[in-house]
Amino acid sequence: MSLPQHLALIMDGNGRWAAHRGMSRTEGHEAGVKTAQKVYRHCRNLGIRHLTLYAFSKENWQRPKDEVSFLFGLVTRYFTQKELRELMERDIRLQVLGELEDLPATTRKVLESYMEKTAGNSSMTLNLALNYSGRDEIVRAARLLLQDGLRPEEITEEALASRLYTVGQPDPDFIVRTSGEYRLSNYLLYQAAYSELYFTHTHWPDFDEAELDKALAEYAHRQRRFGRTGEQVESPTK
Ligand code: FPP
Repeated sequence: MSLPQHLALIMDGNGRWAAHRGMSRTEGHEAGVKTAQKVYRHCRNLGIRHLTLYAFSKENWQRPKDEVSFLFGLVTRYFTQKELRELMERDIRLQVLGELEDLPATTRKVLESYMEKTAGNSSMTLNLALNYSGRDEIVRAARLLLQDGLRPEEITEEALASRLYTVGQPDPDFIVRTSGEYRLSNYLLYQAAYSELYFTHTHWPDFDEAELDKALAEYAHRQRRFGRTGEQVESPTK
């Protein structure tokens, strides 16, 4: 089966999942973290090399203060010594896509230490998009191009891509969004140029291994053309 090299997930619907059960939004997020763990382990077992999880967008700062601090507390509590051992045993490198400077100091410290300790792992890269916005990432890359003194003719797709948070990683082949919304919400805008998209009504906490396998089976049937005709793709020597 053809697997995406890079799978990117939009983990949506924690709040709705909780509301359907008469639970609080925070309980929905707690359940969402457990699902994230299940899913990254499954991806690692399958051999997916790059996994990106959209955990917190720049726009998410507009949520009620209590929810925002709960979410960062959740991230901070999640990264325990046990979790670090797990990442080391599974040879997984943690990366954060997004502006670390604006995060609460404790969250930032934990994440920085995890990134440092897992930097040498190479079987899978687990990207956490945190305080991330696709447009902001492109603007940031444009500023870096200027700061690095590039002349207009030196500004190429490669030069820009090498200044994105995802530098050195392939573009996402497959983007999956849960909970029935059909949009990208400022996610990986530059990198998503040729990504296959998949939407499911399942709320994130219910997105288990079987749901992921279903999505991956659909990916395996997609014909990726990258602007070519169907005929060219079927006979690449033409
Ligand atoms: C979307 O549900 C979910 C979020 C904005 C947060 C997702 C974050 C996590 C699951 C935590 C990830 C942390 C780690 C360590 C992997 P929503 O609140 O937008 O749900 P709703 O649209 O139903 O209200």
